[in-house]
Amino acid sequence: MASKILFVGGTGYIGKFIVEASAKAGHPTFVLVRESTLSNPAKSDVIDNFKNLGVNFLIGDLFDHESLVKAIKQVDVVISTVGHAQLVEQDKIIAAIKEAGNVKRFFPSEFGNDVDRTNAVEPAKSAFATKASIRRAIEAEGIPYTYVSSNFFSGYFLPSLNQPGAAAPPRDKVVILGNGNLKAVFNKEDDIATYTIKAVDDPRALKKILYIRPPANTISFNDTCVLVGEEDWENP
Ligand SMILES: NC(=O)c1ccc[n+]([C@@H]2O[C@H](COP(=O)([O-])OP(=O)(O)OC[C@H]3O[C@@H](n4cnc5c(N)ncnc54)[C@H](OP(=O)(O)O)[C@@H]3O)[C@@H](O)[C@H]2O)c1
Repeated sequence: MASKILFVGGTGYIGKFIVEASAKAGHPTFVLVRESTLSNPAKSDVIDNFKNLGVNFLIGDLFDHESLVKAIKQVDVVISTVGHAQLVEQDKIIAAIKEAGNVKRFFPSEFGNDVDRTNAVEPAKSAFATKASIRRAIEAEGIPYTYVSSNFFSGYFLPSLNQPGAAAPPRDKVVILGNGNLKAVFNKEDDIATYTIKAVDDPRALKKILYIRPPANTISFNDTCVLVGEEDWENP
């Protein structure tokens, strides 16, 4: 039988994709939500979609220990997709998992670079250090884990050609860092969600890092501009 999965941060940017993949794959799916989120008009599309998918809502808060323990006791697997601001607070999920004592697998909020093997500059550097410290806390507590190294979300970065702050491809000028030849991996959010859920009950992913890096998705800054240039810029 498919594991029961609890999401903390399931209504966030990447969380909503993984919650959907979980429900569609037949996992009994639970999302810890705050009351304020359920009544937030900006979240109504996500909440309605979850309702249609048969997702179970558990009212709670990262900062309410009892609510976390109660939610965790109902499931087998916990997936955290909390955002940048809550990364450091995941020690609260670790404490609740320890107290609940029933979790077969914990996926902390990673979904990016392999933080033990990447040298970054700020502001990524601090976030990576926080994610690494959460890894060490999980390992010290002996909690079974999978770390998902999904690399870059394509829907987040490619529409703007990696131009910070831009919502659409720049039409006249694009800033390319360095010589533009360094490669990075870009994955569709749907695919990241599918692979994450496939790892949940896969013993090969236990105490491992799941790298999502298909060769065809490994492209340089220059590649992204050439691809867009050929398709969209020749006949604007
Ligand atoms: N690889 C990439 O390209 C890439 C890009 C962006 C992010 N990431 C990574 O992906 C992960 C998730 O980031 P994201 O941007 O998807 O997150 P996000 O959109 O900021 O979502 C945060 C989630 O946490 C929930 N939350 C916040 N405070 C909470 C609390 N006190 N109690 C319970 N839930 C709370 C939010 O609820 P509400 O819905 O109520 O706000 C939301 O569901 C992070 O590790 C981030 O570093 C990777």
